[in-house]
Amino acid sequence: MKKTILIVSAAVAVFSVYLFWCNNSLTVSNYSVSPESLPDGFDGFRIVQISDLHNKNFHGRLTRKIQKLNPDIIVITGDIIDSYHTRTRVSVDFIEKIRSVAPIYYVTGNHERRIDEYPEFKAEIKKLGVNVLENENVCIERNGDEIRLTGVNDINFFGSSLMDENRIAFSQKLDELNVQSGEKMNILLSHRPELFDLYAEAGYDLVFSGHAHGGQIRLPFVGGILSPGQGFFPEYSEGTYKKGKTEMIVSRGLGNSLFPFRIFNRPEITVCDLMKQE
Ligand SMILES: [Fe+2]
Repeated sequence: MKKTILIVSAAVAVFSVYLFWCNNSLTVSNYSVSPESLPDGFDGFRIVQISDLHNKNFHGRLTRKIQKLNPDIIVITGDIIDSYHTRTRVSVDFIEKIRSVAPIYYVTGNHERRIDEYPEFKAEIKKLGVNVLENENVCIERNGDEIRLTGVNDINFFGSSLMDENRIAFSQKLDELNVQSGEKMNILLSHRPELFDLYAEAGYDLVFSGHAHGGQIRLPFVGGILSPGQGFFPEYSEGTYKKGKTEMIVSRGLGNSLFPFRIFNRPEITVCDLMKQE
């Protein structure tokens, strides 16, 4: 009996240490994409993506990793705050620390839609120089060339994502914003990967998305187990997806929300290098 208790205690201790590591150590995923419309001046342009922080505090480690990656821009794809244990200060402090690294572009997630503090948070990060893209696009210049960067609010800002009329309004906004970019390469920041068909139909070249948390638990040969908006065994949970000319990068994100831990699914920073085709 004593031996059994000892073995069980040791197993619980080892699993607890693993769980702590799995939820607090950072991993970097590198992608290289070559959209046909990429202008020469953007060859080698580096984008670092931060997603679904859910006001988790990495106590400076996340900031240092981002600094080392030396990005040209930083994109934040929503849910930087968690609506169930809201601590906007953690997220504002994080932004304050990384704002000198590179220009920051931010879009909302579904959690920002739910919190009363969002307008105040938005005002604070705007003051820190963050480009808050709420259904708008901006021009980015490099070496005499230009691309467009578009950001849409999470679909819940249009109304319930389950209602057809809101989906139609969201889709029309995507079309409108892509038409505005003209012939220029257009990158979209949009929180939810499950709306990939709409991004591809609108004709975006490259999309950065998050929300799925990698499926929270990842199993070998199976992938992600459960994601918000997609349910069990989500189709879009991490990595890259392609449809027509549109490529989407899905970050597993960094924090947790209602489901309090990740398994085989460490917090992830996504790095994307734009490279001219040979
Ligand atoms: Fe989300």
